[in-house]
Amino acid sequence: MSTAKKEYKRITTKTLVDMKKKGEKISMLTAYDFTMAKIVDSAGIDVILVGDSASNVMAGHETTLPITLDQMIYHAASVVRAIERSLVVVDLPFGSYQSDPKEALRSAIRIMKESGGHAVKLEGGKEIKESIKRILNAGIPVMGHLGLTPQSIYKFGTYTVRAKEEEEADKLIADAILLEKTGCFAIVLEKVPAKLAQEVSEKISIPVIGIGAGNGVDGQVLVTHDMIGMTHEFNPRFLRRYLDLYTEMKSAFSKYSDDVKSGDFPNDSEQY
Ligand code: KIV
Repeated sequence: MSTAKKEYKRITTKTLVDMKKKGEKISMLTAYDFTMAKIVDSAGIDVILVGDSASNVMAGHETTLPITLDQMIYHAASVVRAIERSLVVVDLPFGSYQSDPKEALRSAIRIMKESGGHAVKLEGGKEIKESIKRILNAGIPVMGHLGLTPQSIYKFGTYTVRAKEEEEADKLIADAILLEKTGCFAIVLEKVPAKLAQEVSEKISIPVIGIGAGNGVDGQVLVTHDMIGMTHEFNPRFLRRYLDLYTEMKSAFSKYSDDVKSGDFPNDSEQY
């Protein structure tokens, strides 16, 4: 059991800020369904992200753009039913907050009311400041997301490391400071140089949770299906695989098929 699990019975946004103050790292993983969320929560993971990566790993889309608000709410409600301790953060999907702050607030309210999630996450900095303010004014905690922002993939054209050049790095730092000042409780920083990520983390007092952003930040997030090896074609440098479930599951399924076809399953003790 993790040390954080023993100390904190229930993770709140305040817990995360306190953890940063104490220099305790924050663990975060994705989940999109009840069964997975139950395991992730009971393992002592601090934050469960109902990410719009569900669009990729659950629905098989190439990008995160197609997933809808209704689908995110379905995934988030399934996750919330499973958790006892983790903080549940839900992504606002593409198209549910970009057009204006009122739409952003309406979408965030639907997530909170219909799923029971504890906070929302939005991609972007200065350009979505007014939307973030609106959501926060309604009492809904907001997590920011800077660096590689997959909802803007068609603007950038690639999933390569972001903010390697000074101008983009300066904008990223300014955006992180702005997100903190606006009232976000934490920021996800995706695929940026480790040195820059550390600088951001040192400049702001809210937690910076990295994915492909090195070890100088306040916590780490991975897509669960990637880290347990259920997906096996996605192999970025930042990904550590803790299991090879693709191979394990495939071999279990083919063994089952063999057993059914040979008549070995079910045996005498597996029937009534
Ligand atoms: O949707 C997602 O899973 C995410 C993580 C990659 C941070 O936003």
